[in-house]
Amino acid sequence: MATQDLVVRIGGEGGEGVISCGEILSKAVARGGLNIHAFRTFPAEIRGGLAMFQLRGSDGPARSYSQSADVLLAINHVAYDSYVNNIKDDGVLLYDPAFVNIDDRLGGRQRLELPLDAISNEVTGSSRAKNMVAMGALLSVYGVPLDYGKELISEYFGKKGDEVVKMNHGAVEAGFNFAEEHLAQLQKPFERQPGRDHILVNGNEAVALGAIAAGVNFVPGYPITPATPIFEFLCREMPKFGGKAVQFEDEIATLAAGIGASYAGKRVLTPTSGPGLSLMSETLNLAAMTECPLVIVNVMRGGPSTGLPTKTEQSDLKFAIYGTSGESPRCIMAPLDIYDCFWQTVRAVRIAEKYQMPVILLTDQALAYTSQNIPMPDLADVDLGEREAPAADADKETFLRYAITESGTSPMPIPGIHDLPYMGTGLEHTEKGAPNYTPEVHEAMTEKRFRKLKTLGARIVQQAKVEEDEPEGCEVGVIGWGSTYGAITEAIEMIERDTGIKVAHLHPRILSPLNEWRIRQFLGPLKKLIVPEENYTGQYAHFLKGKFGIKPIEIHKAHGVPFTADELYAAIKEEL
Ligand code: COA
Repeated sequence: MATQDLVVRIGGEGGEGVISCGEILSKAVARGGLNIHAFRTFPAEIRGGLAMFQLRGSDGPARSYSQSADVLLAINHVAYDSYVNNIKDDGVLLYDPAFVNIDDRLGGRQRLELPLDAISNEVTGSSRAKNMVAMGALLSVYGVPLDYGKELISEYFGKKGDEVVKMNHGAVEAGFNFAEEHLAQLQKPFERQPGRDHILVNGNEAVALGAIAAGVNFVPGYPITPATPIFEFLCREMPKFGGKAVQFEDEIATLAAGIGASYAGKRVLTPTSGPGLSLMSETLNLAAMTECPLVIVNVMRGGPSTGLPTKTEQSDLKFAIYGTSGESPRCIMAPLDIYDCFWQTVRAVRIAEKYQMPVILLTDQALAYTSQNIPMPDLADVDLGEREAPAADADKETFLRYAITESGTSPMPIPGIHDLPYMGTGLEHTEKGAPNYTPEVHEAMTEKRFRKLKTLGARIVQQAKVEEDEPEGCEVGVIGWGSTYGAITEAIEMIERDTGIKVAHLHPRILSPLNEWRIRQFLGPLKKLIVPEENYTGQYAHFLKGKFGIKPIEIHKAHGVPFTADELYAAIKEEL
């Protein structure tokens, strides 16, 4: 049987509970044995504006956000107004007739009434639970048992009291029954796999879990959308694992505390977003100069300034690589999906510790707020990696904290644990750590610090394997980074299905240092290279141009929402 896919977009006013409806529904559908991809977007205001939650449930892979929906559930007229054109030609409008006025834009597409407000008022005496009426109706549409929804409501609203839970149980049941009677035509014959060893997490949660698995035990933080949920998660969970998450007065103090803790032997990670990274930039140099390992998870959002704080953009890449006074080595990484958010966080901590330098992990709002069911990570696969400790017989008089070595990394003593000198200063320094800025010392120490990047680069080359779809004989290839992976992969699959033409795809996770060997090998047979990015200027394409002197075809999108597979399909097909 062909793969079944059902994309439902729910739109309503911020405060009406679109997000709660979507979150509970996603969990229920995942428990019901489908793969899900759940995306949300909402305004910067706490109440009001348009909130949207889009759930894709599939018995095949559900990798990316889709611009068009099979079903638009419009809770109010603004949602209808904003999204009517996103309903597929053979899609359906589900709408509350009390709040939506249909016009010509719906065209020949089907419409079905779902009187959310009336049902909620009839069953609960208030409009508050109309989102749970919607949730109940969608449970039926996805063919998920009502009990799953009820159990999740108890978990979700339990802290608000029994009355709230009871009211919502009534609402979900009424919505479910209404749909069983009136909306059965929307159901699809999914092949389900219930009871899998999967967890449903979003990118922020996967990063936070990765941090715990990586043995991070100090998380300094300052809240900023869309990174705050990582910090909140770790404030709640870290103490259970013997670690601490502490809020500071701003991002400068946050990173300074991170350096102090790293210096004292802790494994450190701090979540932030673009404006926070800007504030951290000078302190980041101190981490590079004192060779203190730490990880900054930068959840990118639309900028500059406060920009589009709740929308996605891949626009901090150049800043992450080059945003420094003086020359300061750091490693820049980007996970490509939710599962990868877990594993690249683990890897980022390992790289930071092993090479004693800052690592910036670039996720984005789309990853942060996209939920997917992922296989339970096997913790036996976690390689923690230790920072190099001084030799047991190291001598106090002769020990060199910043010894110039072939790899660039030197043994790092922990104050209070090793009875050795542990000088750290932002000033240029000798191998011992004493301030010294003669030309010879500055040159030698700069080379030493950058040698760590070279060593890391060589290690990446050794580890390189062809994981991506890179069929032989391709003349067109795509290089992407970060969260565009799913949309690129699906677009390439669609092209092969429709035209028989194969397109190569490379998606590096370590962006700097670049795996030059691997990229040259990939570029070798290509006549055309396409680099799609969710930013205005083509930051990664510029980086590749600078390194390889190539002229890629650049596709830019800076709309605050991710690429869809359809958009990339059209753009790549044009180049074939
Ligand atoms: N019964 C009882 N309570 C319900 C309910 C129901 N059926 N449905 C929803 N609620 C509650 C939710 O629990 C939530 O309560 P809380 O505020 O105590 O957590 C509240 O109603 C809002 O519902 P929710 O589903 O979470 O959100 P929403 O879809 O209505 O959208 C947001 C609201 C998410 C847009 C908004 O709150 C928000 O967070 N905006 C972004 C703010 C931001 O980050 N700005 C950037 C600053 S730089």
